[in-house]
Amino acid sequence: MNVYDSDRMSDALAPKGFEASTTPDGADLIILNTCHIREKAAEKVYSELGRLRALKEERLKAGRPLTIGVAGCVAQAEGEEMLSRAPVVDFVVGPQAYHRLPQLVERARDGERPVETDFPTEDKFEHLPQATKQVTLKRGPAAFLTVQEGCDKFCTFCVVPYTRGAETSRPMAHLLDEARALVDAGVREITLLGQNVNAWHGEDAGGTASNLGKLLFALAEIDGVDRLRYTTSHPRDMHGELFAAHRDLDKVMPYLHLPVQAGSDRILKAMNRQHTADEYRALVDKLRDARPDIALSGDFIVGFPGETDEDFEATLQLVRDVGYAQAYSFKYSQRPGTPAATHDVQVEEDVKAERLARLQALLNDQARAFNATMVGRTMDVLLDRKGKRAGQLAGRSPYLQAVHLDAPDALQGHIVPVRIDAAHANSLSGSLLHGDAAATPATAVPELPVA
Ligand code: 5AD
Ligand code: SF4
Repeated sequence: MNVYDSDRMSDALAPKGFEASTTPDGADLIILNTCHIREKAAEKVYSELGRLRALKEERLKAGRPLTIGVAGCVAQAEGEEMLSRAPVVDFVVGPQAYHRLPQLVERARDGERPVETDFPTEDKFEHLPQATKQVTLKRGPAAFLTVQEGCDKFCTFCVVPYTRGAETSRPMAHLLDEARALVDAGVREITLLGQNVNAWHGEDAGGTASNLGKLLFALAEIDGVDRLRYTTSHPRDMHGELFAAHRDLDKVMPYLHLPVQAGSDRILKAMNRQHTADEYRALVDKLRDARPDIALSGDFIVGFPGETDEDFEATLQLVRDVGYAQAYSFKYSQRPGTPAATHDVQVEEDVKAERLARLQALLNDQARAFNATMVGRTMDVLLDRKGKRAGQLAGRSPYLQAVHLDAPDALQGHIVPVRIDAAHANSLSGSLLHGDAAATPATAVPELPVA
């Protein structure tokens, strides 16, 4: 989401003559794209701003002023407050106002310190790229497409419903137009984005609410769309047509990020997740019935208020039962304004740290074992970038693993069959299969360790 948002900011500023720079040194404008999801991420913004203060002063002396803006969810949550807490900041802009960046930068350069954090009211999607604009922007063969924004789930630990606002879905026709425009620009793989993506219920051509399964079927009809993914999903919104899409559409990649957060029913209830651990297990079984080679990724929180050793054991058990290809896990972080933050029984920091280490050891074992099952297999890889060495390209497997191989530059942007030779900590390496050797898709769920 943040990568996509940063791209949106660059796109909004390109007509003003701005180009993205890889370092702050020569830049005339620096925008921090910030995350509010955990305290650590939010606090980073202020240490980063502290560092930028020196650079700004230096620049002023050298007669080449530097403009500094803060964007993203910390900007959205703190608004005006940021200006007083960090005098170095010239403007503040929330995620739903990036289309206004050119004016904001101008006003900031004129000495005003504008703050723009209103949610759009009339056209809810005016801040998103429109199909016609996207076609000129070539960022490689894999692209994001925002289908839905905001979240109405109100998990008790989470700030997203406050920083990103209420759930809104873009109409199907807009999305199909944008997908076609992306294909015209050379895109082969589209990842549908949304804070709660599988709650998408945009209008279809007849004006009735559709669903994500139907959208996937419609997108798969477009020639040139070769791979489809969607993220991030909530277990409560996995419905019949989505299972059918996984079962019937080869273009839907056999990999799904389906966060469960915890394995204890008591904690799931306190988190307001609206499902039990067994309901999640049943969903995973149903997905694997629909698509036996599907691999799962997840998010976990340890140390939610009131979490006991027994609750935490239930999380470990769920992880063992499901078997994840990859996962993110976090210590619970108290977020201002969320119901869980004021809970009287907060878990001690050292208990959280110990639980996180145990969970991560298990998840890492599973990820390593999953990657190891790839060795010797042939899989389709979308070559989307140059590799580290000359003569090397890198790409992504159906399971989003990074794959490195020797291949001619001309193959960049293509999907090619690759034999996997080795699995490393965070990537795979392989060899290009020449001739017309077809990729053999995986047919079975890889064996995962039961630790
Ligand atoms: N503390 C820790 N992790 C959190 N997440 C969301 N809110 C919090 C919080 N307060 C995690 C969840 C979510 C992911 C994006 O971030 O696991 O799925
Ligand atoms: Fe946050 Fe996801 Fe829950 Fe929405 S569904 S409140 S984004 S954790």
